[in-house]
Amino acid sequence: MNAFITKTSSDLQLAVDYLLQGKLVAIPTETVYGLAGNATDGASIVQIFQVKNRPHFDPLIVHSYSLEALMPFVKDLPSLALDLAAHFWPGPLTLLLPKRTSIPDLVTSGNSTVAVRVPNHPLSLQLLKQLPFPLAAPSANPFGYISPTSPEHVYNQLQGKIPYILDGGVCTIGLESTIIGFPENGLPTIYRLGGIPLEAIRKRIGEVTLLPHSSSNPKAPGQLQSHYAPRKPLYIGDISEMLKLHTDGSFGVLSFKTFYAEVEHQIQLSARGDLEEAARQLFAALRTLDQLPIDRIFTELLPDTGLGRAINDRLKRAAFRQT
Ligand code: TXA
Ligand code: MG
Repeated sequence: MNAFITKTSSDLQLAVDYLLQGKLVAIPTETVYGLAGNATDGASIVQIFQVKNRPHFDPLIVHSYSLEALMPFVKDLPSLALDLAAHFWPGPLTLLLPKRTSIPDLVTSGNSTVAVRVPNHPLSLQLLKQLPFPLAAPSANPFGYISPTSPEHVYNQLQGKIPYILDGGVCTIGLESTIIGFPENGLPTIYRLGGIPLEAIRKRIGEVTLLPHSSSNPKAPGQLQSHYAPRKPLYIGDISEMLKLHTDGSFGVLSFKTFYAEVEHQIQLSARGDLEEAARQLFAALRTLDQLPIDRIFTELLPDTGLGRAINDRLKRAAFRQT
C-alpha cells in the first residue's frame, strides 16, 4: 500500500482535490471522524477496507449533504424514513434503504440496502456539496478499535496510511449514528443505538424493534459483540466493590460522575451527571485509559435512558471478551 505523509488542516480545497483523485480523506462529523472515499468508485472503496483492515462483510455508510442528493442512489423511500430524514437530518441518524446499482456492491457488502446519512458538520457539508459524488465513510479507526472523536485520534492510528485529515475540531456528539432499517413486513428496526436517542425515534415514528447484538454472522457488524474496544481489559460492575477486591493499584477507573479519592488513574465522564457530556467524552476517555500505565479498567453502566443506552451498548461491547 502507498505510504503517505499525513497532513492535517482545515483546507477544504485540499480535501476536494484528494477525493477527486480517488484518494482517502478523514473527515469530521458530529458523531465521529469518518474515513472517506468516493462512494461510486470501487477502487476508493477497496482502499477504505484496506486502510481500516476491515472485513468485507461489514458494509459502509454513504454520506451526502441532503436527502435530495442521496435520492439517485436509493430505489425507495418509505414514508417513515422520509419523516425521520426530514426531522433529524443533518444529524446522527443512518437510514437503511433499498440501493440502486450506482452504489457498488462492495459498499453494501452485497446487501440490497444501502446505509445513508447526512452528517451535521459545517465543513463536511461544504465538502460534500463541492463533490460530484457522495462519500462512503466508516469510522476512521482500525477495525474493532475505539472510534476517533478528534483529528489527533485519527492521526495517531492512520498516519502514513492516508494523505489528509480534514480538521473540523472535536466531535460534538461523540457516539456513532443511530442506524434504522425498514423491513417490508414488520416494525422499523434499530440496528445500532447511537447519537439519536431511542426515545426521540419512538416519539417520531412510534414503536420500533431493537435488534439484540449478535456475534455470529451479524447482519450489521456494528452489532458485533466485541467492538469499539480498548486493548486493556475493561470490567463493568459496581466500581466501589471492584476497588475493594483489587488493591494492587494497577488499574484505572472510568466512572459516570463519582470521584474516587483513593484512585490514582481515573476519569469521570461527566461530574455533573450529564449524558450528552458523557457521550462526548467516552471514546477519548477510553483511549486515554488505554495509554496509562495500568493493566485493566473498571467501569460502570450509566442510566439506561437517552444517550445512556448507546453509551452502555459501547461499554458492553468494549468489555466483551471471547473466552
Ligand atoms: O456516525 C457514524 O455512523 C459514523 C460517521 C463517520 O458517519 N460512521 C460509522 O461507520 O460509524 P461504521 O462503518 O464504523 O459503522 C457503520 C455500521 C456498520 O456496523 C455496518 O455494519 C452498518 O453500519 N451498515 C452499513 N450498511 C449496512 C447495511 N446495508 N445493512 C446493515 N448494516 C449496515
Ligand atoms: Mg466503526
